[in-house]
Amino acid sequence: MNSISYSQNLIHPVTLISISDGNRENIATMSWVCALSRKPPLLMVSISPLRYSHDLLISAGEFAIMVLSETQTELSTQAGTLSGKKHNKWNIPAFRDHKKSGKLIKASVLKGCTAIFECRLINHSTAGDHTLFIGEVIYQEINELVRPLILFNHQYYKLGQFIEKSPS
Ligand SMILES: Cc1cc2nc3c(=O)[nH]c(=O)nc-3n(C[C@H](O)[C@H](O)[C@H](O)COP(=O)(O)O)c2cc1C
Repeated sequence: MNSISYSQNLIHPVTLISISDGNRENIATMSWVCALSRKPPLLMVSISPLRYSHDLLISAGEFAIMVLSETQTELSTQAGTLSGKKHNKWNIPAFRDHKKSGKLIKASVLKGCTAIFECRLINHSTAGDHTLFIGEVIYQEINELVRPLILFNHQYYKLGQFIEKSPS
């Protein structure tokens, strides 16, 4: 068995996933999120089967990914330490007071984030001890004035200094 611990040496966005299957709703912090394809616009989120969000997502077939801002560390910590198995996290004032309806999905989303991607689940498959969920982005909201929160080495960071434009 290979137990190399590598993921903390990659830079991750800090996002919340929001899921509702019509009966149950939940939010949870997810950093293993990345872009996969432009056409169609696909993104992936890697979720442990131990999370309440895991089976709820399979049942819902749709979800929202909300990219948290540099002022939202507390939301990341709360949604990433409490489980929907025991808590309705949307009842916590910091979430409830910023809740708004999703545009094309049943799940609610959060005001004040850097970006919101509403997705239709198109595939999921096992990837080691996690499950890789692939969603097609069907609606997005971007707030260019709100800077994203970054995760590196188990610590939250703000975006650093601009250097130069990249080729793509
Ligand atoms: C910063 C941060 C990033 C996280 N990223 C992930 C992730 O990418 N995948 C995952 O399965 N869990 C991740 N977690 C752990 C879940 O957010 C945590 O277990 C949460 O309580 C799950 O909630 P749920 O049981 O309501 O789904 C992360 C937690 C934190 C604090």
